[in-house]
Amino acid sequence: MARLFEGAMKNWKFVLEFLVFSVVFWLLQFVYQFYVVIPGQFSFALIRAFAFSGATFIGLALLSSVFFKFRPVYAKYWHVRRSLGVAGLVFIAGHSLSVVNLLFGGDVSQVFFSLNPIENPMIFGVVGYLVFLVLALTSTDWAMEKIGPARWKTIHRLVYFGYFAAVFHFLAINQSALLNLAGYLLLAVTFLVLAGELYWFVKIAGKNKFSTLGAKIGFLLILLYLVFAYLVFFAK
Ligand code: HEM
Repeated sequence: MARLFEGAMKNWKFVLEFLVFSVVFWLLQFVYQFYVVIPGQFSFALIRAFAFSGATFIGLALLSSVFFKFRPVYAKYWHVRRSLGVAGLVFIAGHSLSVVNLLFGGDVSQVFFSLNPIENPMIFGVVGYLVFLVLALTSTDWAMEKIGPARWKTIHRLVYFGYFAAVFHFLAINQSALLNLAGYLLLAVTFLVLAGELYWFVKIAGKNKFSTLGAKIGFLLILLYLVFAYLVFFAK
């Protein structure tokens, strides 16, 4: 057990500072929702504070990867990316738990009232949540050592699919909830992540004339974004 948290214990000062930052970020989100956006609606303020904090942190984790590619000297701060990802997942766990308990009275089956993600965007949320869970569980120093760098990298490419599912979840489920400062911040981060990833995809895969397996998977992902953007925004 001690080995599992070896990295965090070595770097306890950073972990503590990051924890304080995360709690303050969440509190600001909650206060903003509860007092400004939807005054007095405790359950929804809680659900959305967790949702916006989690989705923004996960977006920032991905944005840091884009940034490290532009400025490799900063890649030594990769532990910031991991902390953003793990804290993001904890927030999303709070988000889904509060949805199930406060909206559905503890009845998980209501999350699956339809398995069609266009009709029920919670399905996208569940997929995103499960992917991020796998990524977090395989991100401890101990797990990374056991899995090995090559396999770890392959598993962690799943993040692109998890993020795709998360993005369509929050774009489709309740668009009016996005029309405030918390939503604009999330949309700005999301835009930067997708633009940055596209830039590096073209630059890196283009060097090999898009002939690698990674390039084919990249094209599949772009196609998925386009098809689901059409289905969510134009075909409804
Ligand atoms: C088990 C998984 C999940 C369930 C059941 C779920 C459920 C919900 C529900 C019911 C809402 C609407 C709440 C409202 O109208 O205020 C919502 C909103 C939201 N969810 Fe999730 N969610 C899940 C996973 C995720 C994940 C993985 C993310 C992102 C990483 C996410 C981000 C958001 C955001 C940002 C909103 C607010 C914006 C909006 O309503 O469009 N959720 N979610």
